[in-house]
Amino acid sequence: MNPTALSLEQTPPLSVPLRFFLTAPLFVMAAAAVLLWYGPVVLSSRWMPALLAVTHFLTLGFLAMTMVGAVQQLLPILMASPVPRPRLISTMTHLLLTIGTLSLGTGMLTGQTSLFVLAMVLLGLGLLIFVVIVGYCLIRARSSHASVAAMALAIAGLAVTAGIGLVLAGGYGLTSFQLPRYLTDLHLIWGILGWVGLLVIGIAYQVVPMFQLTSNYPAAVMRWLPRWLFTALVLWSVALLLPQSCYWLVLVGGMALGAGYVSFAVITLLLQQRRRRRVSDVSVNFWRLALVSLLLAMLLWGADGLSLWHHTQLLLGVLLILGFAMSVVSGMLYKIVPFLVWLHLNNHMQATRRWGEKIPNMKQILPQQRSRWQFWLQLASLFLMLAAVLWPVLTRPAAACLLLAFVLLWWNLLEGVRVYLRYVRAG
Ligand code: HEM
Repeated sequence: MNPTALSLEQTPPLSVPLRFFLTAPLFVMAAAAVLLWYGPVVLSSRWMPALLAVTHFLTLGFLAMTMVGAVQQLLPILMASPVPRPRLISTMTHLLLTIGTLSLGTGMLTGQTSLFVLAMVLLGLGLLIFVVIVGYCLIRARSSHASVAAMALAIAGLAVTAGIGLVLAGGYGLTSFQLPRYLTDLHLIWGILGWVGLLVIGIAYQVVPMFQLTSNYPAAVMRWLPRWLFTALVLWSVALLLPQSCYWLVLVGGMALGAGYVSFAVITLLLQQRRRRRVSDVSVNFWRLALVSLLLAMLLWGADGLSLWHHTQLLLGVLLILGFAMSVVSGMLYKIVPFLVWLHLNNHMQATRRWGEKIPNMKQILPQQRSRWQFWLQLASLFLMLAAVLWPVLTRPAAACLLLAFVLLWWNLLEGVRVYLRYVRAG
């Protein structure tokens, strides 16, 4: 992939992705507020309702929100297959996802069954529209690039995650239906290592070489890794649903999954190590943090069989959600938002015939210094949250740090929008 292969003229209006990117940090602030309000008790068990609410503010409110926005932006640019009626589709998916996540989170906090039912309708509808439209765009893309296959598998992962999530929500919202708790592990692994992980891999194939000036991923890795991971997930899930006697199959599936993600992390770290131009870049820092968290999570998962830690499940959740997924997404936002502002400013200047005027470059749109501060805050919140799992008294300091980190991320993204508006209005 090289930048000249981008179909920049097909880019959707700036408001399409930005509404998702600017809403997402607000959900992290909501998660931090819940942690601050309830304090150490939240981390006392993985089934605490407040922890389930925090988890979904982070996974649906932040991760799914940014990824749904990013995919609508990337489909036309990277795969030359734009989403039809982009304004209408983005308005619908954004509203359904936002109100649906709020309903699910508050339902979890208050135990109100009607909120679960509302969440099931809104999230079910929003994610269904998204999955169908993206599936259609991917088929129409007719591209043999490995990213297309990875993205298609990620979308299938989202469908499985949401499908199981809706059944689980039914267990809370519908009195006649018993919560099928044996599905929860499947739901969370398909969410984090299916939907989020595969999408990160698909996007990394294009974005890491392009924005971080590395060589391409090896062709065999690009072709086979997503298929390997998806097959391992299916194997692991089937094994988990079979009777106890098939425990060996759970181990094989789990090891194949772990080996696949370890390879992805190691290969990406090596590519970044051999970058062509070694300028310091905050988004590379975020990627490194994410990949190291992913490696640690896979090691911890492997060691889980040895029962070394009492708190493995919560540590894994923090490493995978806050350490891996949220760091990659923050790193991507610091590249995508200034790039889009620059691109739309450029298009605007051409369209309004302001050819002579200079527009700011990406580093001027989002100054590195402020992004770096935000990175350190996010890193501190990860350390504090991991420590809080072991010493719950640290829950509130961890939450305060998380809150500050995402207020600053939000402010930084808003700054990019302000630059755009300043230049457009000056005309
Ligand atoms: C339609 C969307 C979704 C719905 C309705 C939903 C619903 C639920 C429900 C009701 C539970 C509690 C299960 C129980 O008590 O056993 C749960 C757990 C969980 N969900 Fe979701 N979910 C959705 C999407 C997602 C996504 C996209 C992710 C991750 C990317 C995710 C990650 C998790 C995790 C990590 C847990 C388990 C928390 C724990 O065990 O401590 N969910 N979900």
